[in-house]
Amino acid sequence: MKEIIEKVKAEMIEITNENKNKTNFDHWNNHIRLVYERGHELAIERKANIEIVDLATILHDIARIKEVGPIEEHNKYGAEIAEKILSKYNYPKEKIEHVKRCIYNHQDNPKSSVEEEIVADADAVSHFDDLSTLYYLAFTMLKLDFTQAKKFIKNKLEFDFKKLSPYGKVKYKERYEKILEMLFGYNE
Ligand SMILES: [Fe+2]
Ligand SMILES: [Fe+2]
Repeated sequence: MKEIIEKVKAEMIEITNENKNKTNFDHWNNHIRLVYERGHELAIERKANIEIVDLATILHDIARIKEVGPIEEHNKYGAEIAEKILSKYNYPKEKIEHVKRCIYNHQDNPKSSVEEEIVADADAVSHFDDLSTLYYLAFTMLKLDFTQAKKFIKNKLEFDFKKLSPYGKVKYKERYEKILEMLFGYNE
């Protein structure tokens, strides 16, 4: 693996350890690592630029984890922090711009490259890989009651699926439907 990726990964693991919140949520193991692994797989499969996808998935939520700026703008602040980190390692300017675009557009902005699509898809399907993070969000973070939490989780999964790229929708449709069936099928 490229040296730059190892360095940024090590830095990110340190940042997530330093920023574990009161509930001890481990951002690296419960979210970032999943997005990184899924993104890497998709980048190989779609013959995209693996290095760009690796760096962007590792850094995509950095502003959220470090609690820099409002949460709704963590894509914008995250892109700025990523630029600082990558410049420190003398990473080429045009590659930094590409990583920044992936981070900036990882939520619902239009995408202009396959790498941007992959980062957003990997982020969206991370909940399909670890449903417990959704329960954590609903019960611990948002303190919802049981009925509200069920509704929240269902909406979140539907929203995640809707925002997938056309490629992602085809690839993850079966998995998504299985999850909905498993969680909510009995009383729908
Ligand atoms: Fe995010
Ligand atoms: Fe994320």
